[in-house]
Amino acid sequence: MIGTNRTILRVDASMRRQKSVSRMLADEMVSLLGARQPGIHLINRDLAAGVGIVNAAWIEAERTFEENRTPDQRALLTQSDALVSELQAADDVVIATPIYNFSVPAALKAWIDLICRDNITFVYENDRPRGLLANKRATVIITSGGTMADTDVDYASNYIRHIMEFIGIMDVSVIDVTGLAKNRRKVIADARQEIAIVSERSANSQRNLSVAE
Ligand SMILES: Cc1cc2nc3c(=O)[nH]c(=O)nc-3n(C[C@H](O)[C@H](O)[C@H](O)COP(=O)(O)O)c2cc1C
Repeated sequence: MIGTNRTILRVDASMRRQKSVSRMLADEMVSLLGARQPGIHLINRDLAAGVGIVNAAWIEAERTFEENRTPDQRALLTQSDALVSELQAADDVVIATPIYNFSVPAALKAWIDLICRDNITFVYENDRPRGLLANKRATVIITSGGTMADTDVDYASNYIRHIMEFIGIMDVSVIDVTGLAKNRRKVIADARQEIAIVSERSANSQRNLSVAE
């Protein structure tokens, strides 16, 4: 059993709510992380429900000092603020996403645009970015039909890893569920093994943290 008082943020990017492999494996991952145990708080962010897109007014609002923002500008940033709060609250972040057209689904890109916030989730110092989120782990479950992870046509997995690191989440595990069209059973079986290993590692580091506290 993983330690108590932990928060898991689960982000689903498959537009399919039925027959989705990434959602099925995310169910298993959060369950192994203890989602149903007392003291574990699970936040579900289902991007198939819709997410806003950054536009000119949003950019203007985001670039205005907080104390100078108009009520309309504050309202424009409400969803982004909420998504950032979910990330700040999370100990474990589980992102389950398919590859769509060699990259991430548009909704996941929209989420990324809303959570990358200057001076909140990252800051540039001497021309170098520094992530402002600390002590978090991310697991990225990535599915595809035929585009294989880490090949030169995979513009998704390294991108998500980079974004996590950009905002300060340095402990990132990628569960490779790519190539489902060719060898579905084996790809899913291998992914389940990886999920077991990654969640056990999470449990161990949580146990160590509990002992240290
Ligand atoms: C709009 C769309 C674009 C897709 N593009 C790709 C692609 O570029 N490469 C690939 O291997 N599979 C592609 N697929 C297949 C999905 O990645 C695959 O079916 C995956 O399992 C979907 O995840 P899910 O089962 O969680 O919905 C695409 C599927 C859709 C619906």
